Amino acid sequence: MEWTSVARLPSLVLWWSAVAGVWLVVVNRWLMHWTDGTAKSAVIAGSLLSAFAASTLIGYHALWRWVPFGILGILLVGEAKRELLRARYSACEIGQGVEPTLMNSVITTTALQCRRVEITVPGLPCERLRVAQLSDLHIDHDLPFHYYASALRAVSEELPDLLVLTGDFVSRPEGLPLLEQWAALVTQAAPQVFFSLGNHDHWVDAQAVRSILLNAGAVDVGGRCLGLAREHGAIAVCGTEVPWGPNIPSFPVGIPFRLVLSHTPDNVYALADAGATIVFSGHNHGGQFRIPGLGALVVPSRYGRRFDRGAFKVADTHLIVSSGVGAGRPSVRLFCPPDVVVVDVVRQRTARRPTRLRRHRGSTE
Ligand SMILES: [Fe+2]
Repeated sequence: MEWTSVARLPSLVLWWSAVAGVWLVVVNRWLMHWTDGTAKSAVIAGSLLSAFAASTLIGYHALWRWVPFGILGILLVGEAKRELLRARYSACEIGQGVEPTLMNSVITTTALQCRRVEITVPGLPCERLRVAQLSDLHIDHDLPFHYYASALRAVSEELPDLLVLTGDFVSRPEGLPLLEQWAALVTQAAPQVFFSLGNHDHWVDAQAVRSILLNAGAVDVGGRCLGLAREHGAIAVCGTEVPWGPNIPSFPVGIPFRLVLSHTPDNVYALADAGATIVFSGHNHGGQFRIPGLGALVVPSRYGRRFDRGAFKVADTHLIVSSGVGAGRPSVRLFCPPDVVVVDVVRQRTARRPTRLRRHRGSTE
């Protein structure tokens, strides 16, 4: 064993890269449903340190030198598969003029962007419907209150018909009074405001978060559907908080246009099966830390980076994934601006044949 050999350094770097990749794919997905706390932090730190220490010891043995090439090769195949799937889903980055600013700014924690997308759907009982979305506020003293208020001002300037709030309003109990202050402004941003909760709301105090938003005049759609009258019929606004809260509700049979709030985009396949028209999600924060050209480093999704942020089409269901407004701890975003999402839904004139749902579960991305 050559403990001091500098020649072994490239081999060690390969091993560390392979271990980091395996950790992201395997351990991260296992940990993502754990409630934040000391136990989770200890497991993250312990598993990473153990993995790096073990790989350092193994990496000094020439016998194992080809193993990291194999691991990295498998991870690269997973990445190629992810790119292929995104192409099949017609996935695109939501928004206009977002990318050029990314290279100009490393820390993008409060560089709020407005991301616009227009989609055409059948069964819309009006000519157009403008839906604004705010997600993952994570309201806290780490960022100034006027920043969170500016997200509501940005929404009101877009004159939306509806505002949907897709969960993770708070990260800690200390955020609840701030949420109350923020929620008092929410109905000034749009004529109708709907919400469902995210994992952090459930981990902090789901009942308290719900009460604050209900008292402010927002409508809770977690686990249920509401019919809204439009010019030529009705639309359904529904919500689910699976896997942390209320299940996917039964969609009303007589209303073909179903707009669904689901904190995690991982529910999109089940919602497409159920007949959702558009799903609004957040949860992934666009990765929160991104590397230009490489993308998100860690995404808390069973599908890895497949739905990190952007607009997607899964069978006949549109999926919109917001990057979020706030940031999970640490409250920093790197090359990953927060966003206000504005979706213009336009009525499709002629009916298309329904698309068969293709499933691509369990990728190695
Ligand atoms: Fe979040």
